[in-house]
Amino acid sequence: MQTLPTAQFMRAAGRPADFPPPGPPEVAFAGRSNVGKSSAINALLGRRSLARTSKTPGRTQTINFYEMGAAARIVDLPGYGYARVPKPLREQWRQLVGSYLQDRPSLAGVVLVMDARHPLTDLDAQLLAWLGRFPTLALLSKADKLSRREQELTLKECASRLADAPHVRVALFSSTTHQGLEEARGALAAWLLAERNAEPAGKNKKPPVKGI
Ligand code: GTP
Ligand code: MG
Repeated sequence: MQTLPTAQFMRAAGRPADFPPPGPPEVAFAGRSNVGKSSAINALLGRRSLARTSKTPGRTQTINFYEMGAAARIVDLPGYGYARVPKPLREQWRQLVGSYLQDRPSLAGVVLVMDARHPLTDLDAQLLAWLGRFPTLALLSKADKLSRREQELTLKECASRLADAPHVRVALFSSTTHQGLEEARGALAAWLLAERNAEPAGKNKKPPVKGI
């Protein structure tokens, strides 16, 4: 079983000036509101309630940094696409998350969490376009809400829609049943803990952030 170092809350940043200076490699969790980003972080780190989760969409409004000792960091991004968020807040989101994703030399990989029942929405596609060829793990979350057959179909459909994006790996995932947990932990460990032996972080420069 893949284990990750113990994580603890480091900082919540509501504006770029509050981001901790880039340090060890970090993996950011992105995706629409309420898809299960914070729950995925807790499941992957084996912690019940490290990252705050909620039934109310838009729970995570700040960028929350978690540190695994001095070795690595996990970053919980606020979700996008919640229709009831007022326009000025959406703009604030774009500036906050945009400035993080665009200019973070220590970012080693992005986990794009998508509800397995509605994957690859327009906003998800926009985010993937922003990320360019950046290493991405697309988790089809809440897979427990689908039958085995539906899971297979969704996975196949997503893989085919992402056929021209070999830097994006797709996997089924459930924070509730822990389906896909080991595979996702393996991907995180490869990004976070093997990075030291790899090329310097920031090698995959991302295009400028627009829209969403
Ligand atoms: P924001 O911070 O608002 O963007 O949401 P989030 O993406 O962090 O979602 P969060 O982890 O807070 O989960 C939202 C809701 O979905 C909560 O009620 C969770 O209990 C539920 N949930 C998350 N993951 C799963 C899962 O794998 N299966 C099921 N059945 N429910 C899940
Ligand atoms: Mg959250």
